Amino acid sequence: MIGVGMIFDETYRPFFESVHREGLYDRRHGDVAVPLVAMASRTGTRAAKYQVDLQDKLPPFENYSGTSSVDQMLAQGVDFACVATPDNRHYDAAKKVLSAGVHLLIEKPSVLSLSELDDLTQLAREQHLLAKVVYHKLLDPDHKKLRTLVHDDVLQHVNTGYCSLLEPKSISGGQFSEWIVGRNPGTYVAVHYIKLIDFTFGGKLKTVMATGQRGLVGPKDGPTWDSTQMRMIYEYADGREAAFDIHTSWVTPDNFPGYVEQEVQFRFDNGVWNGHSRKRGIECTVEGRTPFTLKTTMNNHYNGTFVEPWGARSQRGYGIEVLERFAREVAYVEFAGEPADRSQRLHEMQALGYNDLAADRQTVAAVQALEAILERHVAGEPDCVVRVNDPLGGLVLYHPNGRPPEVLYSGMV
Ligand SMILES: NC(=O)c1ccc[n+]([C@@H]2O[C@H](COP(=O)([O-])OP(=O)(O)OC[C@H]3O[C@@H](n4cnc5c(N)ncnc54)[C@H](O)[C@@H]3O)[C@@H](O)[C@H]2O)c1
Repeated sequence: MIGVGMIFDETYRPFFESVHREGLYDRRHGDVAVPLVAMASRTGTRAAKYQVDLQDKLPPFENYSGTSSVDQMLAQGVDFACVATPDNRHYDAAKKVLSAGVHLLIEKPSVLSLSELDDLTQLAREQHLLAKVVYHKLLDPDHKKLRTLVHDDVLQHVNTGYCSLLEPKSISGGQFSEWIVGRNPGTYVAVHYIKLIDFTFGGKLKTVMATGQRGLVGPKDGPTWDSTQMRMIYEYADGREAAFDIHTSWVTPDNFPGYVEQEVQFRFDNGVWNGHSRKRGIECTVEGRTPFTLKTTMNNHYNGTFVEPWGARSQRGYGIEVLERFAREVAYVEFAGEPADRSQRLHEMQALGYNDLAADRQTVAAVQALEAILERHVAGEPDCVVRVNDPLGGLVLYHPNGRPPEVLYSGMV
């Protein structure tokens, strides 16, 4: 495990606890043990706390810290490694993982540029390894249903969509304050919707536009963003287009009744899909607790703690299911048949576009475009537009004042 922050606590920790308790079984490979053997982070402080907290729940694990923590962890020998560092630090750790011959799982967004993605996908191919990314919202039952209706042609031809995701102030002001300077909430969370749109509707990304607001997390003319709004335009096989707007913020008041507010609308030729993460039916008030330590409209689907009807305590949801699914993919490649057929099993798992890095190109392209547009905005030039697979290159940034376009990525996206 590389990076031991909030997401470790929310999803990886319950995954490792349950897989230790219950094993990972499939008839094709039998029971596979998935022990957490080591953590690597900057300071090692949280991992040291987990070593104490988890001592009855998990076998002992190593805690590596400092600048060579990732190398030390990999030298210990592991089968797969998960990268959950801040997003602008995914690439270096991911490259080390694949170079060490270890399967890779990266938190979203995978990487911030197509050249980094090219390096990692090439390395994974050369090393015959899985290189995958966690987009847990693709496993949200509501998003699965949306995709099922699109896949089955019940909902036909998307025309427009809007998505909004609001994170509380405590994210930008507390949790992430170490690395937030120069960062934006779009790369951090709009990426979930970029992927949802890309994976659910297919098509070719054509254009990316973006703007945003500053002044709360950092100075109004500084490089750190409070909120961002981006627009993506896609073209489909029949030549028709769709536009998607994605609004994100990490400065919502902490007493907001939900924790993370997620709302989407997609309009089709023959229908409309409206989704709201907080309004799936729950509204709960507890004196002195909601909305602070307990949320008024809680999301029990992502990651909830429960007493099961049979008495056991559990923590479950799609945020954890997505990690188990990756462990199953690794187990399938390594153990579900003869070693001679490993490459066939590897190709089967690499073909899964929902999480393979090779299928993340348009998402990374949109993120790289967003980052570039916001960077030019900070430098005093708002309203740039990035066009994809343009005559000049794969990602080309156009300036509003007529300066010559800049090629951000020359290959085809
Ligand atoms: N918090 C969430 O709800 C959430 C949800 C989904 C995905 N993610 C993703 O998970 C990743 C981490 O998010 P988080 O919320 O856990 O962040 P965090 O700030 O809570 O934790 C980051 C961790 O990375 C470690 N770290 C920083 N630089 C490092 C380096 N160079 N080498 C090794 N370790 C390093 C830090 O010590 C810390 O343990 C991000 O990519 C984020 O997008 C977070």
